[in-house]
Amino acid sequence: MSTPAEKAMAAGVSVDLVMLDGCVQAAFLADKLKTVKYLPIRDDDILLCTYPKSGTHWTWEILNMIVAGKAEYAKHWQNSAWLEYRTEEELEELASPRILHTHLLPSQLPDAVWDKRCKVVYVRRNAKDCLVSAYSQYSKQIWKDNPLGIRSYTGTWEAFVDLFLDGCLIGVPYFKHTIEWINISEAHKGFEICGLQYEDMKKDCVQEIRRMADYLGRPLSDTTYQAISDACSFKKLKHANEKIKDQTYHFHWQDGSSGYFRKGTTGDWKNWFTVAQSERFDKVYEERLKETFPY
Ligand code: A3P
Repeated sequence: MSTPAEKAMAAGVSVDLVMLDGCVQAAFLADKLKTVKYLPIRDDDILLCTYPKSGTHWTWEILNMIVAGKAEYAKHWQNSAWLEYRTEEELEELASPRILHTHLLPSQLPDAVWDKRCKVVYVRRNAKDCLVSAYSQYSKQIWKDNPLGIRSYTGTWEAFVDLFLDGCLIGVPYFKHTIEWINISEAHKGFEICGLQYEDMKKDCVQEIRRMADYLGRPLSDTTYQAISDACSFKKLKHANEKIKDQTYHFHWQDGSSGYFRKGTTGDWKNWFTVAQSERFDKVYEERLKETFPY
């Protein structure tokens, strides 16, 4: 019987994959992932935790602005502070308070995150929109250093939906990730995280920025909240990342497009899912999360 990693590669994921902790992971990242648990954590670290494509770039920038106390873009792309990707030395060079982001499970993070009671911000997004966003990324993305110029995913949309539902996409499977994060208070009694929803941020970003600032113990003026919300609008943040920021940590794609800023809307899944795919998705969602798909 084939492993989820083998299934993913057979379906068209062109990255070399391995199984690690029951999750499909890129082979080139496997050694690094084994060391994450032991990374040094500072008392004032802030962790931004997301399932991929849930609005990590957006929220990371907002958190940076809250910490800076003004609507000024961070110098680098968020990948400069990616916990499971950067080396220990690179992470050590970041100024405090660090805003580290991760797609890992709570149980995969360094224990010090919980022992030191770091601030933890968790963002969730409509899973069907995450899936569309991930497909759009992988099916267009050709890493600049890929000599063969092969897209990260060369299979069909249909097969990609299956990979997602069967927990075979790269990284922690969606259901495993969501179940562990929404039950975090059971694993860490009394630990308070700031839980956000991408769709709420789209509806009233100022209100969600205020919630983040209050949680971080860094309240700001209403004018500043508004300025942060404006500076982090989809259009302005895309422009800032692609045209203003230092590009050292930008994972360029071969076509020159960043790709990470695609549409920035809610409900795009309706343009992609067939009725049958949507019904299958809802069924699996309900079985796994014990709640009806809410969108
Ligand atoms: P779409 O592909 O649906 O457009 P992540 O940063 O976790 O990789 O998430 C990427 C998703 O967030 C993409 O979704 C991207 O367009 C969207 N996004 C990025 N910046 C945004 C912003 N300022 N406002 C709303 N959505 C944003």
